[in-house]
Amino acid sequence: MADNGSILVTGAAGKLGAVGRTVTGLLLDRGLAVRAMVRREDDRAAALRAAGAEVVVGDLLEPADVYRVVSGCRRVYFGMSVSAGYLEATVIMAAVAREVGMNALINMSQMTVSQMSVQNTTSSPQQRQHWLSEQALAWSGLPVVTIRPTVFLEGFFLPLTGPSVRDRSRIELPFGRGKTSPVATADVARVIAAVLADPAPHLGRIYELTGPRSQDMDGVAREYSDALNHEVTYADIPPKDWEQGLKKAGLPEHLTHHLVTMAELNRAGRYDRMADGVERVTGRRAMSVREFVSLHADEFGGRRSSNKTANTRI
Ligand SMILES: NC(=O)c1ccc[n+]([C@@H]2O[C@H](COP(=O)([O-])OP(=O)(O)OC[C@H]3O[C@@H](n4cnc5c(N)ncnc54)[C@H](OP(=O)(O)O)[C@@H]3O)[C@@H](O)[C@H]2O)c1
Repeated sequence: MADNGSILVTGAAGKLGAVGRTVTGLLLDRGLAVRAMVRREDDRAAALRAAGAEVVVGDLLEPADVYRVVSGCRRVYFGMSVSAGYLEATVIMAAVAREVGMNALINMSQMTVSQMSVQNTTSSPQQRQHWLSEQALAWSGLPVVTIRPTVFLEGFFLPLTGPSVRDRSRIELPFGRGKTSPVATADVARVIAAVLADPAPHLGRIYELTGPRSQDMDGVAREYSDALNHEVTYADIPPKDWEQGLKKAGLPEHLTHHLVTMAELNRAGRYDRMADGVERVTGRRAMSVREFVSLHADEFGGRRSSNKTANTRI
C-alpha cells in the first residue's frame, strides 16, 4: 500500500494548545504534507492554511464528509472535542477507514480506559465512549495506535484553575487528597506526531501518557508557587459547588458529567498514575507542572518579581 499522501489530522482547529492543532504544526515542521480537518471556515482554519496545511471542512458525524476527507490519506490522527457523539464519530471513521484502506489510525483515548472492563466502567459518558471506541477499533482489524493520556495541563488545569490563581492565588478544585500527574498536550502532540511520521514500529501499541510526577494538590500548588514566584495554595472545594460553577458557566451536560466524574475519581485516588509513554516515544522527559506554569505565567496572573522579597530580607 503506497503511503506518500497527506497525513489527515481531525479536530485540527481547536484552541491554542489543543492536540490536533499542535500535531498539525509539528508535522508541518517535519516537512510532511498535512490535511487538517476543521468544522468550519474561520480564523483558525485560515491560520492552519497560512502555516502550510491543506484545510478541509467537514463534520465527523457525517459519513459522506468523513469519506471525502479521509480519501487519499493513509495515516490519520483521530480526535475531537469531548462530546456526546464521540462513539458514533469513531465508528464512522472506522467504517470509512476499512473501505478506503489505511496504514495507521492514531486514536485519541483516555488513561482511565486502562482501569475499565465490562464489569468496571465509570459514570463519565465520555470515558465509556472511549472504552467502547477502543473495543470497536480492535474489532475493526485496522492498524491502530492508541493514545491514552491522563488529564491535560492545557485542556483542564489552565482553563479551570487559571482564573482563581489569577484572582485569589488559589487552585480551587474538588480533588480531595488524591494524587494526579497531569500531562502537557504539547507532549501528547509530540508523541502523536512521532507516531504519524513513522507508524510501523508503533502499530497495535497503547501509549499511556502522564507528566513526570504524581502528587497531591498541595504538591501541585507548590509547583505553581515556584513557577509564579508567590504562594499559591490549594482549596479543596465541595464537589457540588464546583458542579454548580460548571453549569453556571454554560458547559454542555455531557462535558459537565465527565468533569464531575473526573473529580470523583481524583478524590478516590484513581488519577495517581505514572507512565513513561512520552519519554519512550519521543526520547524526551515529559514537561512538569512547574515548567508548564512558567511557560504560561501570564495566563496565571504573571510571575512576580523577586526584587521586593530580596529587599525586605536585607
Ligand atoms: N482535556 C483532557 O484533560 C483530556 C485528557 C485525556 C484525553 N483527552 C481527550 O482529548 C480529546 C480532546 O482533545 P483536544 O482538547 O485537543 O480537543 P478539542 O480542542 O476540544 O477539540 C478539537 C476539535 O474537534 C472539533 N470537533 C468537535 N466536533 C466535531 C465534529 N462533529 N466534526 C468535526 N470536528 C469536530 C472541534 O471543532 P470546533 O472548535 O469548531 O468546535 C475542535 O476544534 C478527547 O478525545 C478527550 O477525551 C482529553
